[in-house]
Amino acid sequence: MNIAVVGLGNAGLPLASVIADCGFEVIGVDIDMERCERINRGINPIPEEAGLDDLIERYGGKSLRATPRYEDAKGCKSFIVIVPLLIDEGHNPDFNILEEAFRSIGKILKKGDLVVLETTVPPTTTETMIRGWLEEESGLQLGDFYLAHSPERIMTGYSISRLREFPKIVGGADEESGRLAFDLYRKFIPNLQRVTSSRVAEFVKIVEGCYRDVNIALANEILKISEELNIDFNEAREYANHDYCHIHLPSTGVGGHCIPVYPWFLINEMEKREKFGFVELQRCSRKINDEMVGYWAERIVLKALKIDRPLSQIKICLRGITYRKGVKELYHSRNLALARVLARKGLQVGVYDELFSEEEIESLSLRFMDPEDADVVFDCFELRFS
Ligand SMILES: NC(=O)c1ccc[n+]([C@@H]2O[C@H](COP(=O)([O-])OP(=O)(O)OC[C@H]3O[C@@H](n4cnc5c(N)ncnc54)[C@H](O)[C@@H]3O)[C@@H](O)[C@H]2O)c1
Repeated sequence: MNIAVVGLGNAGLPLASVIADCGFEVIGVDIDMERCERINRGINPIPEEAGLDDLIERYGGKSLRATPRYEDAKGCKSFIVIVPLLIDEGHNPDFNILEEAFRSIGKILKKGDLVVLETTVPPTTTETMIRGWLEEESGLQLGDFYLAHSPERIMTGYSISRLREFPKIVGGADEESGRLAFDLYRKFIPNLQRVTSSRVAEFVKIVEGCYRDVNIALANEILKISEELNIDFNEAREYANHDYCHIHLPSTGVGGHCIPVYPWFLINEMEKREKFGFVELQRCSRKINDEMVGYWAERIVLKALKIDRPLSQIKICLRGITYRKGVKELYHSRNLALARVLARKGLQVGVYDELFSEEEIESLSLRFMDPEDADVVFDCFELRFS
């Protein structure tokens, strides 16, 4: 059975490789021709993804064939889509990429085919917009083809192990679609659970992000209170946490493509319906987390002021600029935002990150600084001065 995976990015390529590793013929469709060529030569375009080198070397160009042309996937019975959903300045989703991908699939869709969306989307997107694009382009109706949602729950860097171990969920746009999608996915996802509908599956993924955001905001607030009261946050957290209490770790804020974005799907939808009170906690959590940059900037300046030299002469080094430790990604990185805030204050601030070369740091219009040469070093992940 041939399976098409549309979108061979950070999320799609590990999934396509895991499916190929389970013995399936996979056609990967991605508009990036160079990426397709590399995959077909057995070269992994995401070397930082543990275990992916081996899978691409083994299956790339063989049972995992990448192509920029949707027509090459026309023999497939199942289509799994993981293309990005971009977000505009007002935190509203821009569906253009998804629409293009689904209209392209609609053109080659046949009776009996199954289409599964993995991209995280606002609840009801699968059963409304996605279904509409497929029906318009194919001339078929849901029931002639099948449609489901199975949210991607990987974590960059650990995608292969997450796909093999972490619980994955699937829900159909109708009963039969849910059943067929479950039957397909359990052939390559060992830990699979079925929910009653695609809208539940969409909602599960979003509320996971909301939970993390709210809890990180709580941890950040508790950290600020404990510092004000001269109480060791880490000691308090260690003894506060038990089976019924899990205080998260504080941070410089929340970055990446997911957690700072998904709460807006619910905030925007509820506010559109004038249900402002339903999303107060989430809106407030977003604000608390985003404002942590200002909090840490002030703490760093206060630390520098303790040195008996003019502030303008104090060399401040921030260690770690990515949004998460160990992942070379800067999307909505609060550590990067912190470096920029300090630089704008006219301070002598530089950054150091073992994942980035000096040239790469300078290309971000930041100054490279060796921690050894600094007067104040702030570790952005450990939230510690050294
Ligand atoms: N990366 C993660 O850690 C992660 C985690 C959970 C969920 N997700 C979900 O996966 C989605 C995709 O994320 P990603 O990290 O893989 O993005 P990415 O930018 O790494 O990859 C997207 C890929 O899609 C391709 N593409 C764009 N338009 C296309 C089109 N019309 N047809 C075919 N291919 C097209 C791009 O060329 C690119 O290779 C996200 O929007 C998110 O919902 C990602």
